[in-house]
This record gives sequence, C-alpha cells and structure tokens, in this order.
Amino acid sequence: MAELSKTEKAILELISNNPFIGQSNIAQELNLARSTIAVHITQLVSKGLLLGRGYILPTSQKVTCIGGVAFNRKYALNVAPVLGTSNPGVSSQSHGGVIRNIAENLARLDVDVSLISIVGEDESGRELLSQMRSLGVDISQVVLSNDRPTAEYVAIFDSANELVFGVASMGILDQITPAQIERSWSHISSSDWVVLDCNLPSETIEKILYLKQKADFKLAVDTVSISKAKRLPRDLSMIDILFTNRDEANSILNFGSDISGLDINELATLLRKLGSKGVVLTDGANGHIINIEEEVFATPALSSNVINVSGAGDALVAGFISKIRSGASVCEASKVGAALSALTIESEMDVRQDLSVDILNDYILQKKD
Ligand SMILES: Nc1ncnc2c1ncn2[C@@H]1O[C@H](COP(=O)(O)OP(=O)(O)OP(=O)(O)O)[C@@H](O)[C@H]1O
Ligand SMILES: [Mg+2]
Repeated sequence: MAELSKTEKAILELISNNPFIGQSNIAQELNLARSTIAVHITQLVSKGLLLGRGYILPTSQKVTCIGGVAFNRKYALNVAPVLGTSNPGVSSQSHGGVIRNIAENLARLDVDVSLISIVGEDESGRELLSQMRSLGVDISQVVLSNDRPTAEYVAIFDSANELVFGVASMGILDQITPAQIERSWSHISSSDWVVLDCNLPSETIEKILYLKQKADFKLAVDTVSISKAKRLPRDLSMIDILFTNRDEANSILNFGSDISGLDINELATLLRKLGSKGVVLTDGANGHIINIEEEVFATPALSSNVINVSGAGDALVAGFISKIRSGASVCEASKVGAALSALTIESEMDVRQDLSVDILNDYILQKKD
C-alpha cells in the first residue's frame, strides 16, 4: 500500500465511515481548509486509494463557473517603441480570463468550485489547469482542444507603462459549444450557484438560460466587456444577478457608452425591465449599486491604495457570490464584494495571491475602524 500521511489517513477514514461526506465537512472535522482537503483527495485518487467516481457526488454547495480561461503575457519596453523591428523589453506572465479569475478568488475563499471551459493541448493550457487543480478547483469538465491553442492575451507597454497595443487570441473560446453544456448538464444542474461570463458564444449562453428553466440553481452573469455584453439575449429573465459595469450596461441596452446620459440607477432599472431579477452595476472608483428584487442601494468603493485596477470587477463578483451562497443578506454580500475588489486593487496581480477568508475578514474589520 502506498505511503500515507497522517492527514491522508484521517481523510480516508472519514470517507470510509461515510462515503457521502462532502469536502467541506471533512475540512471541518480535520480543522483544515477545504482546498487542502481537495488537494489530498486528488492525491488519494492518483494513488488509487479512492475511486473518483464513487466519491464525486453532487455537493449542493458547489459553485460552477463557466466561461473564459486565458494566458496573459505582458511585455514592457525599455525604450520608445519602434515599429518594424525588434525592441528590447521585459516579459511577465499571468493567468486570466474573467471566469478563471472569479473561480480562483472563490477557491481561495474555500468555496467548492468547479470550472467549465476549454484550453489547448499546449504548455499554457497545462499550466492554467495545473494551477486550478492545485487550488482544489474541479477541472473535470474542462475540454482540451486538439486544434486550437489556449486563449492568450498579449500586451505591449511602453516605458511609461502605457499600452502600445494588445493582441487577443481568443478563438478557442468559440468552441465552448451548446453541446459541451449538454454533456456537462448533470454537473451544472447539481450546483448551488452557476456563474457564467460573456466570453461564451451567444448560442452557448442561450442554451444555459434555456436549460435553466427546469433547474434549481441560481445564475449570475458577468458581462466582461462592451462588445461581449451584446452576446446576452433580450430576455434576461433566467438571470438572478447580472454583474455589469456602466459601459457594458449601456452596451446591453444598445446605447453608445457615453451618449445615453442615464445615471447608473436608471441603467439598472432598465436592465431589470429586461427581466434580470437582480443587477449589480459597478462604476470604478464610485463603487457599485445594487438593484436586486426589492433591494435598491449604493455601496461606495472602499478607499484604497490603488496599485492595479484590473481584476477589481471579477473580485467583486467572487466576494459577493462567496457570501450570498452561504445565506448572507444582499447587503452583507455587497460589502464583501466591495472589500474584495479593494483588497485586489491594492495588489499587483489581478487575483490576490495571498487571499484567504482570514485576510478578507481582517481587511473588513480594519476598514470598519
Ligand atoms: N480606482 C478605484 N478606486 C477604488 N475602487 C475601485 C477602483 N476601481 C474599481 N474599484 C472597485 O472595484 C469595483 C469594480 O470595479 P469596476 O467598475 O472597475 O469593474 P470592471 O469594469 O468590471 O473591472 P474589471 O472587469 O477590469 O475587473 C468597484 O465597484 C469598486 O468597488
Ligand atoms: Mg468586469
């Protein structure tokens, strides 16, 4: 028999006493983070001591995230850019894609997360998946494409950190088809919450909204960008919470971004009229407004030492969902969303690498003082 650590033995014992025990319960029993338990379970499966199938049962608290996963490469030039020749610079890379960022934030907050997306059979795809796996995210429903490379965003910055140009190679995401959703439907429909981003093709979004009519889970949507927001259908009545920023809201409503003249409350009201049961409309440093069922209020941004604003919106969605799924009020979820976005923009990365429930709670307490 393979060599087992003390924790692995304890996990095996709990599972053999109750094969239906969830990861969160094991975590509670052993006083460890759920993500740690998930990693041990993956190891027990690979040692052949757990037969995955018997164990992978629908956990009612699961959040399934469906959408885009991408590899970001950034190049900072040391000199003024010269076209038509090679320019010396410094490269860095990070993991991105709105839904991937949301899933990473949720996993770091000990939420049971599952990811549905697509990557290429290449180095970037393997790295993205390996990081998700190490965080305890269930990646069993991620498809590997053998004819498209992993989605990639490449950005070139000048020495003043202004974007010179960017290249988005996202074609692979069009292969997240309605058929993939159908294949994963039992996995999706057994979730507590499903979050999708508008990196999905419109027919795939429509398929999820259609199938959701007979399902029990709650659905949140992040609109991603002005152009991708237009992938939503006119009827938003299957959406429980629509997360969108001011420009994306204008785009859904078919107004040019600056010409509608409507304030964010009016925009949210119009989105509710399209059927969405709730709208969280973000507006950068001005914070966000909530218009969910009967609750309408504004939550200001927490003042923060801004280092990198990218990822703020994704963090807000994750903070909000992590709270609301645990039964908290909309007001509490809104505050946690604002706190996680503030915490995120105070770091270099689009997802804070040191994030944990404790760090988030400490930050909220500290901001109360
Ligand atoms: N400059 C800022 N100062 C303080 N808080 C900010 C700032 N920018 C964003 N935030 C916080 O993050 C939240 C979401 O930001 P924003 O409206 O920019 O989302 P977004 O456009 O979806 O961003 P992204 O998609 O790039 O992550 C805001 O409601 C606010 O709480
Ligand atoms: Mg956003």
